[in-house]
Amino acid sequence: MDNRAIGVFDSGLGGLTAVRQLHRVMPNENIIYFGDTGRVPYGSRSRRTVLNYARQDVAFLKQHNLKAIVIACGTVSSQVLGDIKSENTVPIVGVVEPTCYAAMQETRNNRIGIIGTKGTIRSGAYEAKLHTLDPSVHTIARHCPLFVPLVEAGRFLPDDKVTQLVVEEYLTEIRDFGVDTLILGCTHYPLLRDAIHAFMGDDVALIDSGAEAAKYVRRFLEPAQSGQGHTEYYVSDDPDSFDEYAEMFLGEPAGVRAQLVDIASY
Ligand code: DGL
Repeated sequence: MDNRAIGVFDSGLGGLTAVRQLHRVMPNENIIYFGDTGRVPYGSRSRRTVLNYARQDVAFLKQHNLKAIVIACGTVSSQVLGDIKSENTVPIVGVVEPTCYAAMQETRNNRIGIIGTKGTIRSGAYEAKLHTLDPSVHTIARHCPLFVPLVEAGRFLPDDKVTQLVVEEYLTEIRDFGVDTLILGCTHYPLLRDAIHAFMGDDVALIDSGAEAAKYVRRFLEPAQSGQGHTEYYVSDDPDSFDEYAEMFLGEPAGVRAQLVDIASY
């Protein structure tokens, strides 16, 4: 048994979709969550800036006694996971690898779509991993810059006309490519699942990167003792609005206040 906490970080509060999955599959675990709400979004920034931010996020989390760190952010995982891993001894898990394993298991026609932020898609990390798993796989990737702001504005329900229009604009090419599996390669996209499912149809499996990372972590980590785990939340800006947004991503009230971190000092 290992009662040390699991650290989780993201560019903002979207990574709480991964915490939601960790709560579901590993309810005994203690979790320390950091959301860089003062510097979100990461998705449109340069690789260099993403690396600097990720280093500070990890440095903050490492103040705690952790058994692993989960990078919930698709943008960080796809661009700088290798650097972050090589600089640290604590086990670090990104979302790309577990998500690709799940997608390869799911696909029947070997045609997989990937959606994410600009940085994630520019990195080509998902395609590269999928091709190492099966060189014959056919992939199509596209960035969907309006999805994050839509979700943050609460506009993710499938009957929302604006959301429908944006989903159609981004996903038509992917649907026409004939994918049977679509990777939701960004923390915010699980909230758009119903809208994306309505457009893509029942025959396309949607793979949630946070959920796959959570399942992956459960497989290789020494579990905590039985009993309800505790989660602490830290943000780099405006802890007062944390509750309102946290519930949207977590699917339940956080139940505790978030604490403010001066992340630039790390
Ligand atoms: N957390 C980011 C990701 O999963 C989305 C938001 C951002 O651009 O920072 O890629």
